[in-house]
Amino acid sequence: MRLRIVAANWKMNLRVEEGIKLAKEINDFVETYPMEGKRVVICAPFTHLTQIVSVVNYWLISVGAQNCAEWERGAYTGEVSAEMIASTGAHYVIIGHSERRKYFNETNEILAKKVSLALKYALIPIYCIGETLEERNQGILYNIVKEQLEKGLFFLDEENIKRVVIAYEPVWAIGTGVNATPQQAQEMHSFIRNLIKDKYGISIAQQIPILYGGSLNSKNAKEIFNEKDIDGGLVGGASLIPSEFIEIIKAL
Ligand code: PGA
Repeated sequence: MRLRIVAANWKMNLRVEEGIKLAKEINDFVETYPMEGKRVVICAPFTHLTQIVSVVNYWLISVGAQNCAEWERGAYTGEVSAEMIASTGAHYVIIGHSERRKYFNETNEILAKKVSLALKYALIPIYCIGETLEERNQGILYNIVKEQLEKGLFFLDEENIKRVVIAYEPVWAIGTGVNATPQQAQEMHSFIRNLIKDKYGISIAQQIPILYGGSLNSKNAKEIFNEKDIDGGLVGGASLIPSEFIEIIKAL
């Protein structure tokens, strides 16, 4: 059985005290809810990590960062390393979110370095992939996703690829209110799992959680999570609203 995951991506929102309040509300819910085989991950801004780690139940909720540096340490003013993130008690890190690819010019090659460093410091990378609307309309969505996987992840050996979580987030669905249909998402998730199978074999392909992200909410989550290759979600906007996020956890 693959682990099922709902991950919150708070992006650049919430003051520290607001983050603590939200994390506590999520924690209070999760502590009363059956969570076997399931995990909630809260990906918070760097400034919040230590305190969020201290208010959530370690066994039920993991904390993650939203990015890490492509270098290990040194004279890179303003950067935050994978080692530093791990030292806060966080266990996950989002790598290659489309906003990082777009606004910070993060290429698949740069992201491969980040993935390596995350794994070196025992962080689980949530590696994000997905096509833009233009790429979908041109019919090159599968080529794009394949390239993102091949360059950013498939350099890993068998031991390391098993530790990764993949998030398929079509760029046109992020923050737009237009989610992929369950069928569209399932088609891509099955394509991704097949690529993993071709490269690493069926057993590894069956182990890796593949999350969907893009305008998930309390209304569409259940149907999307019911698809056979969809193992949970990466949630932006709706993760900032406790009642919405809790409904999404219930849909898992
Ligand atoms: P959204 O964002 O849920 O607000 O569409 C998802 C994401 O960017 O991870």
